[in-house]
Formats: sequence, structure tokens, C-alpha cells
Amino acid sequence: MLVDIIAGARPNFMKVAPIIEAIEREQKKGTDLSFRLIHTGQHYDKNMSTAFFEQLGIPAPDINLEAGSGTQAEQTAAIMTRYEKVLLSRRPDVVIVVGDVTSTMACAITAKKTGNITVAHVEAGIRSNDLQMPEEINRIVTDSITDLYFTTSHSANENLRRTGVSDERIFFVGNTMIDTLLKQAPQFEPPAIWKDLKLEEKNYFVLTLHRPNNVDNLDDLKAILVAIVKASRNLPIIFPIHPRTAKTLESINIKAPNLHITEPLSYLQFNYLVQHSKAVITDSGGIQEETTVMNVPCITLRDNTERPETCTIGTNELIGTNPRNIPTALEKLFSGNWKKGGIPYMWDGKAADRIISVLKNLKGLAS
Ligand code: UD1
Repeated sequence: MLVDIIAGARPNFMKVAPIIEAIEREQKKGTDLSFRLIHTGQHYDKNMSTAFFEQLGIPAPDINLEAGSGTQAEQTAAIMTRYEKVLLSRRPDVVIVVGDVTSTMACAITAKKTGNITVAHVEAGIRSNDLQMPEEINRIVTDSITDLYFTTSHSANENLRRTGVSDERIFFVGNTMIDTLLKQAPQFEPPAIWKDLKLEEKNYFVLTLHRPNNVDNLDDLKAILVAIVKASRNLPIIFPIHPRTAKTLESINIKAPNLHITEPLSYLQFNYLVQHSKAVITDSGGIQEETTVMNVPCITLRDNTERPETCTIGTNELIGTNPRNIPTALEKLFSGNWKKGGIPYMWDGKAADRIISVLKNLKGLAS
């Protein structure tokens, strides 16, 4: 069986790494399972892509579509046009797409339309119900044509059932992003800034922002940063900055002695900072899950989440995008009243093995 594994953007890399390892383990046992790793090139910088491959031990991609930056439509079109050629030159039996980025949707559509190839979606079924997020559109479109739904949560299973997906196509396997987190935790390492700023355990914040909603508008981004700085009691705020946010920030003159803006950090260094921080303030999806597993308070600047279990079970709290809510959340944290979290069911480091067991037993599931 030949499987194409699609990786395009930063949050995909930690999700494909354990799947590749699980396939390699099977190959050693003599199972007839091979793969092509397809990098779409959506993220291409060293610190958004290559560093993740190196640290997570992901093999070099077999094919790089080099789609690069562009508008949503340009990126989608470039990925589809280039992936179609790959599929026409050799047809895989299954295409695995992960997460919710543009590459996920573009390759799922291409696989189905270029010969009805079986599509397996890892992290299927999660929904924010917010169509302003390009990721939500990617999730809905991908799941509308997926054959095998690999899910991370009960809520994802329910969402899929509600749209008429039959139980035999839903495989509740756990979370491959957490497979990577648990495997890599012993290797987490402090970034240079840890020493440079003499950061202390549980005495600084990590901040990440990249959602168009929060960062594309100059005034909104400025208001969020001002509110965080004001409520931070002068604790250091480490802000590894996404390229999209960097663009907006160029035009904002915001300086505060405790706000430390850095380049995007590598996986092992970023998670070291998160693990030892007082709390993370973020609008990311994946970080809500990682903080839950590391039992670090997570303040999420969004009105909704496609990962509700990080709030109901984990350490995450949604405070919306209005900067006025920031002081209350930080007060709660400083007063020691932040909730203690648990870990969602099946986030145990074995998701990729479960996925591969399903694939090994496949019998013509393409619809
Ligand atoms: C994408 C994903 C988002 C994910 C995020 C993580 C979609 C719709 N969104 O958003 O779900 O959480 O990645 O990073 O797929 N850029 C660089 N270097 C790079 C990559 C991008 O400079 O290596 C620049 C691009 O030129 C672009 C901007 O960053 O201007 C945004 O990149 P893009 O991939 O379009 O979307 P993200 O905002 O990163």
C-alpha cells in the first residue's frame, strides 16, 4: 500500500512526524506499507519549516510542491495544480491529510477529484462554527469528502455524526500532536532568551498571536498588546512572532521594557518556554492542546474553540478578542484561582499507532 502524507504548514509537522515513525516501524516488521512525504511549501522559512523537520526527525520530503505564499485562492490553486501532477504520475492508495490548513483542504480535494483516491483526515470533525476562520472552511470542505475520519475527541465524533458520517468511518484514535509532545518532552531545551533574560520558572508569560482577526488590523493588535503589558505586573512577556503578525507590527510603535519580541522559535525551545511559563496567552489552536497536556494555564484570545475539551477538561479559558477582558483573566491567574486541568481521553501518545492499525486493515473504503 502506498500512502501520501501531506504536510504544508508549521502545525502540520508535529502531526505527521509520529505517523511517519509508525509506518517506519511497520516497514521494519515487513508490512507492505510505503509512503511519500509531500511538502506543499505553504510554510517555507527555516524557522517555520526546516527547523521542525530537523528537530522532530522527519525525513526530507519526497516531493516539495513549493507552493509558497499568496492569497487563500492563490495558495489553494497552486497546491492543487502541483499535487494533481504528482497524483497523475503515480497514484497512491491513500492520501493522509492532517489538521485544517489550506494544504489540508487543497490536497484532499485534489485526491478525490483525481481518481477518487481514499482520503484519510487526521484531526477530523473539530469545529469552531466560525466561518470567518479560513481553517473552519478547510475543516468543513475536507470532512465533506473524507473517507476515513481519525478523530481526537468525543465532540469531534459527535460533530461528524451530526453531518451524517457513519460510525464505521469514524476512528477515535487520539491526538498525534500529543504523540509528538510526549515523545519530545525529555528533549525540550531552553532558547537563548531563557539565559539572556534570566527567566525564572513560572514567572513569565508566553504570547503568540497570528489569527487574521487579531493581527491584521493595526489598532486591534495594538490594543491587545497594550492591555497585556498593562496587566502583566511587569513579568517578562516572551512573544515569538509569526511572519503574518510581524508584518502588522512593523507599523506599530509599541515598546515596553517587559515585552520581548523574538523570531519564531523551534519546537523544542518553544515548548520548553511554555512548559516553564506562568501562563500562555494565545490565539492558536494547537497550543490550547499542548498547554492542557503540560498543565499550564492557557488564556485564549478567541470567541470560540474547535477544541472544547481543552476548556472543559484542560487548563484553557476562552476570553474573547476584546482587550477589556485581559485584566480580569490575568487577575484570576495572579490570585492563584486558575483551574487545574486534566488530560482528555486517548491523548496518550499512541494515536499514530492506532491510525496505522486502521490503515493496515483497509478494504476499499473510498466512497
Ligand atoms: C497558517 C494556517 C493556520 C496555522 C498557521 C500556523 C491556513 C489557512 N492557516 O496560517 O491554520 O495556525 O499557518 O503558522 O492554512 N510566511 C512567511 N514564511 C513562511 C510562511 C509564511 O513569511 O514560512 C508569511 C506568508 O508570506 C504570509 C504569512 O506569513 O504572508 C501568512 O502565511 P500563511 O501560510 O498564508 O498563513 P498563516 O497565517 O501562517
